[in-house]
Amino acid sequence: MDNSGFVDAALLARVRVGREYVAAKYGFRNHWYPALFGHELAEGQARPVTLLGENILLKRIDGRVHAIHDRCLHRGVPLSRKLECYTAGTVTCWYHGFTYRFADGVLCDIAGTAGSAVIGRRKLRTYPVSEAQGLVFVFVGDADHTPPPLAHDVPPGFLDAELAVHGKRRVVAANWRIGCENGFDSTHIFIHKDSVLVAEADLALPLGLQPLGRHAFQRQLDDDGPKGVFDNFGPDEVRPVFTATIEGEEVLHGAIGGSNRVPQDISMWLPCALRVRPWPVPETTQFEWYVPIDADHHLYLQTLGKRCTNERERDDWAREFHARWLPKALDGFNDDDVWAREATQPFYADDTGWLEEQLFEPDGNIVEWRKLASAHARGIQRPEHIDPPGHTVLSVD
Ligand code: FES
Ligand SMILES: [Fe+2]
Repeated sequence: MDNSGFVDAALLARVRVGREYVAAKYGFRNHWYPALFGHELAEGQARPVTLLGENILLKRIDGRVHAIHDRCLHRGVPLSRKLECYTAGTVTCWYHGFTYRFADGVLCDIAGTAGSAVIGRRKLRTYPVSEAQGLVFVFVGDADHTPPPLAHDVPPGFLDAELAVHGKRRVVAANWRIGCENGFDSTHIFIHKDSVLVAEADLALPLGLQPLGRHAFQRQLDDDGPKGVFDNFGPDEVRPVFTATIEGEEVLHGAIGGSNRVPQDISMWLPCALRVRPWPVPETTQFEWYVPIDADHHLYLQTLGKRCTNERERDDWAREFHARWLPKALDGFNDDDVWAREATQPFYADDTGWLEEQLFEPDGNIVEWRKLASAHARGIQRPEHIDPPGHTVLSVD
């Protein structure tokens, strides 16, 4: 690993499958990523976020969220170190007064210094923003890359108009790929055997899910839609294992008595989203993202969606989510995933884990995901993207 935390080229050359994926320690470029929930950004409020190593400042202005690079052109300080917004549409650097418009990033004035020749001639990088289902998505990509529709970068069904979505977000001390592979890992269900959710959702939860062949996972590669890998949990594709034996002795039993057999399928989507359908009960679906922050952290953004056709159903669902599924599912159940990822991270931190891991048959879906991501991601985040040249000189008409 070099000093910037990116993957060493000599190590990368030894990776046989999914080399681009292994190289994408800071994520895949030219994709949409959720940064936070819309309700976390009130009108006029500004907040910093870090996505794929890039420090970004968000602000809601007249209802719309704008995003600019959070680094002053003058001496490189983070604008968010001390936020000073003297007009609705601008932010002023706390140090010497450089003032930027959120709409286009242009250095539109310098508070306290009149008439500088640089005013109107330099600009900060801006980022496209899209708000959907209560989430604020930011497109982290090249200036000349036209963002695709948001629907190409979220799991199928997430943008359905009738879906009412609630969730939470937290930072996990593990690389984003450790998050993806924990969520999509079909035998990691073993860690959930004691979960509070088993009783709460009356789950029939096996100790393991054993794929029976190549049909157990399939790719979805529509040109006009998201790209991902599906696990199918049909009886011909996967065998649930409810009894664990060690050298012939039965040692553990899964929750076989539960009446609720979910999910039907689990799928992993570019750039970093998992769908568990349905979950944890037949009426709800979990959508979650493992958004790269830096080499060693990801934003774990969890949501549950339920189809609601009127305001009353939406209100009931909001109450049910907060009273029941937030504590028992997104916290109780998924807390196991969080500590499992943090326990996995040290093995992969210097990237030698990608060479030393010894995968087994059920990990085939993870290998399929690595291959799909390597072939279809729109670009790899590299050091020059995180610290780009300090400024852009605008062409003067
Ligand atoms: S560092 Fe921002 S104005 Fe000087
Ligand atoms: Fe899990």
